[in-house]
Amino acid sequence: MAAVLTGLGGYLPPKVVSNEDLSATLDTSDEWITVRTGIRQRHMVADGMSTGDLAVAAGARALKSAGHPAVDTVVVATTSPDRLCPAVAPEVAARLDLGTVAAFDLTSACSGFVYGLATAAGLIASEAADTVLFIGAEAFTTLVNPADRTTAPIFGDGAGAVVLRRGEQGEPGALGPFDLGSDGARADLLAIPAGGSRQRSANGGPGHDAVPHEDWYLRMVGRPLYQHAVERMTQSANTALKKAGWAVTDVDWFVGHQANARIVHAVAEELAVPEERTAVNIDRVGNTLSASIPLLLNDLAAEGALMPGHRIVLSAFGAGLSWGSTVLTWPDLSVESVH
Ligand code: UT7
Repeated sequence: MAAVLTGLGGYLPPKVVSNEDLSATLDTSDEWITVRTGIRQRHMVADGMSTGDLAVAAGARALKSAGHPAVDTVVVATTSPDRLCPAVAPEVAARLDLGTVAAFDLTSACSGFVYGLATAAGLIASEAADTVLFIGAEAFTTLVNPADRTTAPIFGDGAGAVVLRRGEQGEPGALGPFDLGSDGARADLLAIPAGGSRQRSANGGPGHDAVPHEDWYLRMVGRPLYQHAVERMTQSANTALKKAGWAVTDVDWFVGHQANARIVHAVAEELAVPEERTAVNIDRVGNTLSASIPLLLNDLAAEGALMPGHRIVLSAFGAGLSWGSTVLTWPDLSVESVH
């Protein structure tokens, strides 16, 4: 038994912010952002638009791509939920008219998509679910300080969704073995300190200091993260390939989380995947966390670069720290462009 990919969809909010736009209000430049990250523009939610809105739009497209099957479970991977409680997945399921299905959120930052695929595959393997709508959705720019030049240029908003059904190992679209890992000792490298149970009140109160304004926003220590990202993604992708019994030369596409074009190319080089088989779309969307890999798959498939029968390795790394990889052979899917 296996979880098999049977639908794919994505959504980007209409507002596009270029590097030049950012440079107008921030001490940065198009050249710095392009050279250091590969990012040229990102999409951002307009006021009033939330992660749930993006998830519904991407979910609807994935359901259409799958031919509107009966779904019994909805999982949303997000690190920028509409609110702390409740999870956004039940509301997304209701807005998609899926009825009283099982629905929950999963938080694993930029590795959320791979962790979510593994979770959905586990639900299907245990027969808790037959058909899962799994969405990676992020309005993460709402958690980034617009005045912080070390983070503001990096992130973008968007959502990507897949439909997974029960099937057989070896058929196109069957998710292969997974490699998942974490290192919580380095949690401080990428964190939003406030808003949870540790730093809980904006105004302080009995026994609590007031939370400083900056603590409501993302803090990132880029340099060491970069090194961890290259090391962990390489190691993890190699482990997934080994578990699957695939050689690197079997791989048609390396689909890595889009944190930084330089990271993606460095991992590809370590893996010995040639540049023409290394997928990159960060120039158009920035780092969209758990939406990054499905949006990249959507671009590749919609452009016809990713063809049925292609073998791909997916690998992600992010806050936690956390990382994960898996492999699959691309199935025959109808996919709409998000651009
Ligand atoms: O999603 C998964 C988790 N995220 C990651 O894995 C991100 C990993 N890290 C990175 O991608 C890179 O470290 C960054 C893109 C975040 C930063 O690139 P970098 O090459 O590591 O630059 P840096 O932080 O070492 O900064 C180099 C210089 C500094 O100036 P000095 O000290 O050399 O004078 C910064 O102050 O660039 C300066 N700088 C900027 N300059 C213009 C930092 N941000 C900017 C900016 N515009 N936006």
